[in-house]
Amino acid sequence: MNVYDSERIAGVMAHLNYKKTSDIEKADLIIVNTCAIREKAEQKVYSFLGRLNRMKLRRPDLVIGVGGCVAQQQGEKIFDRAPYVDVVFGTHAVARLPDLIAKTEKVNSRVVDVDTATNVDPLELTRIVTETSGSVTRFVTIMQGCDNFCTYCVVPYVRGREASRRPENIIAEIERLVDAGVREVTLLGQNVNSYGKKEGLCSFPELLERISNVDGLMRIRFTTSHPKDLSTALCRSFRDLPKLCRHIHLPVQSGSNHILSQMNRRYTRESYLEKVSELRQYCTDIAITSDFIVGFPGEMREDFEQTLDLIRTVEYDSLFAFNYSDRPEAPANRFKEKVPEEEKNQRLQTLLRVQDRVTLRKNRALIGTEQWVLVEGLGKKRQRIPDNSGESMAKKPQWTGRTAANKIVNFEPEDLPNSTRNNLTGKLVRMRIEKAYAHSLWGIPLAVGKTPAAVKGEKSYAA
Ligand code: 5AD
Ligand code: SF4
Repeated sequence: MNVYDSERIAGVMAHLNYKKTSDIEKADLIIVNTCAIREKAEQKVYSFLGRLNRMKLRRPDLVIGVGGCVAQQQGEKIFDRAPYVDVVFGTHAVARLPDLIAKTEKVNSRVVDVDTATNVDPLELTRIVTETSGSVTRFVTIMQGCDNFCTYCVVPYVRGREASRRPENIIAEIERLVDAGVREVTLLGQNVNSYGKKEGLCSFPELLERISNVDGLMRIRFTTSHPKDLSTALCRSFRDLPKLCRHIHLPVQSGSNHILSQMNRRYTRESYLEKVSELRQYCTDIAITSDFIVGFPGEMREDFEQTLDLIRTVEYDSLFAFNYSDRPEAPANRFKEKVPEEEKNQRLQTLLRVQDRVTLRKNRALIGTEQWVLVEGLGKKRQRIPDNSGESMAKKPQWTGRTAANKIVNFEPEDLPNSTRNNLTGKLVRMRIEKAYAHSLWGIPLAVGKTPAAVKGEKSYAA
């Protein structure tokens, strides 16, 4: 969501002839897009702003903006800790950013806009030109806000109430992206399963079907799906829509019914497991990932054991786990029986160890299989690949991409014909998996897939 918002910010600023620079020292304007989900993310904002302050002392003309959820939450209070900031703008003010920047330049004073009451029109998103900068995969917001009020979560307070974009606007945006070379979109919403319900638009599975008719689009992903709203129709979409990647992120947060109820998640461990079975019934090899919070107030050792047991039962492909962090607005802040930090850290390490074993086992099971990999580009660095003798050797530049199940696959294109070897970005490559690590796979490319125009109706690429 934040990556998407940063792209929107860059998009609106491009209208004022601002261009992105990779060298922060050369920037005339720096926008810090912030996250308030946990305390640590918030602390990072202030330490980064401290760094910008030192830059501003050297270059007083530098304009500094702070956007996103911390800006929304703190408003003017940002200036108390960082008086050198020029513009504070909230989660609903991105479209107004050019005016805010112009204002601060003209009157040479600080500006704040954390207004959410007006301009919540999600359609405004479509008016923003989206630059693609050659990426193969892009995020597309289909809805914003959240109405669920999980007791630990700050999102409903900083992103406001749930609102869905109209399907035709979403499709128009995706068509534009595909024209610019994008091959895979990830649809974003705090709870995509309730897409369109409030507004009486089409359902989420219907939206998926319409998006899958966009010519040239190869793959569709989405996140995040609240387990309580996961429908049978969506389970069927995984079976019926070839472009829909066989992966679902289904955050469970805890394996204990007592803690789930304290979190106001509105499902039980049993009903969650039923949904997992239903998904696997329609799509046997679907990859399932999740989010966990450890050390929620009142989490006893037995509750945590239930969480470990759930992880072993579901056998997730991977997961994100976080220590519970008090958020001032969220009700759990006032819950007694806080778990000591040291205990949280221990539980987090235990949980990650349990999952590491599961991940490695599942990754190893892919050795010898063939997968379609959508190539995202050259790997960031030359990796060292252990050879059979156990020694490491430096390799040539590697390419990197993902399977439909969202597993990273690195490879060298040497086995491909010369003509296809050079620009693989955006291509689907058939790959045989040779090695499995904790966080990635290593593959041998077998063939390059067809051009996007030929993808319509094809079954195999996302599958
Ligand atoms: N403390 C720790 N983790 C949190 N998350 C959300 N709020 C908190 C919090 N207060 C986690 C949840 C959510 C993910 C995006 O962040 O696991 O799914
Ligand atoms: Fe937060 Fe719960 Fe909404 Fe997810 S569903 S954004 S955890 S309130």
